[in-house]
Amino acid sequence: MMEPVLTEEAQEIWDTVLSMSLSFKRETTKGKYIRILSLLMQEQDVKEAGKELVIEAIRMVEGKRFDNHVFRRIEDPATYKRLVIDPKTDLDAYFALPIQVKRWDIPSSKPTKSPKEMKVIAVNGSPRRGGNGDVLIDEALRGAEDAGASVEKIMLQKIKLNFCISCYKCEQPGWAGFCSQKDDVNGVFQKMADSDAIIIGFPVYMGRESGQLCIFFDRWYCLSGGKLGAGKRGMVIGTYGSPFVDSFYDSVIEKVMFILTNFGIEPVEVLSACGFIGVLGGLDDKGKAMILRFPKELEKAYQAGKSLVAGES
Ligand SMILES: Cc1cc2nc3c(=O)[nH]c(=O)nc-3n(C[C@H](O)[C@H](O)[C@H](O)COP(=O)(O)O)c2cc1C
Repeated sequence: MMEPVLTEEAQEIWDTVLSMSLSFKRETTKGKYIRILSLLMQEQDVKEAGKELVIEAIRMVEGKRFDNHVFRRIEDPATYKRLVIDPKTDLDAYFALPIQVKRWDIPSSKPTKSPKEMKVIAVNGSPRRGGNGDVLIDEALRGAEDAGASVEKIMLQKIKLNFCISCYKCEQPGWAGFCSQKDDVNGVFQKMADSDAIIIGFPVYMGRESGQLCIFFDRWYCLSGGKLGAGKRGMVIGTYGSPFVDSFYDSVIEKVMFILTNFGIEPVEVLSACGFIGVLGGLDDKGKAMILRFPKELEKAYQAGKSLVAGES
C-alpha cells in the first residue's frame, strides 16, 4: 500500500499514535489509517495530508481512543496545559476547572407504572461516600423521591463483596437462587429484583470502571436467564478526572450500559461528569465533592432522577 505524503507536523502525530498501538497490531492498524487517510485525501483532492486530516483519519479508525490526551494536547496546547497540566500543581488552576455533567440524549421508553409505585435502588461503585459520584447519585435519588418513588442506596465499598470464584453452581440444573457465595451480594440482588429502576454509579479508574464495580459485575453472572425480572429502568452515572466531557470515557459508560441491557435493564438516563482530578483529587479544601460548587450541573442529576421514574422531563 502506498504511504500517503504527510506534513512534518502530521507525521509526528502519525508516529506518536502508532507508537501507542500494541506492537503486534501496529502493521494492521497502520494499514487501516493509510486506507482511510488515502480516501480522505482523494475526497478532498490534496496531495499532502496535514494534521487535521491525519487526526480525522485516526479518529475514524479508533473512535475517541486518543481524544483525552494525544489529540487535545496537539490541537490546543494552551487549553491542554490549563485543564490538564496546571491543576496537578496549582490550586487556582484546580479550582478553575470547568466541572461538567453531560446528560446523554438517548431514546427511552415510558415507565409502565406511576412513580408512587416504583422502587429505585442505587449502587455506588466509588469508595468515597460524599464523593462526586455519591453526590450525583443522591441528587438523582432526590429527583426520583420527589416524583413519588421510594429509594435506597448501597455503597459497594461498605458491603461484603467477594470475587466470583467461578464455581458455576449457578448454572447447575435445578439451581434456583442467585449466587452460591454467602456474602452480602445476594441481598443486593434481591433488592435489585424487587426494584423497578436501578442506578449504577461509578468512577473511572485506569480507563475502565472502578474495581468495586468490576467485581460486582462479575457476580452478575448468576443473574443470567432473566433472574432480575423484566421491564426495569436503568440509569448510569460515570465520573472521571479528565476535564473533557466528550471523550474516550464515553465508551466505558457505554460498556456499563451494555451490561445493564444484557440483564434486561433499559438504560433510560445516562450522566457523565468530568473534571474531578488535580491537587485535591476532585474534592475542595474542606474535603467536600467539587461537584457541589456547580449547582446547575447537579440539577441535571435531579432532573434525570425524576425522569427515571416519571418519564422524560
Ligand atoms: C485509582 C484511580 C484511577 C483513576 N483513573 C482515572 C482514569 O483513568 N481517567 C480519569 O479521567 N480519571 C481517573 N481517576 C480519577 C477519578 O475517576 C475521579 O477522581 C472520579 O471522578 C472520582 O469519583 P468520586 O468523587 O465519586 O470518588 C482515577 C482515580 C483513582 C483513585
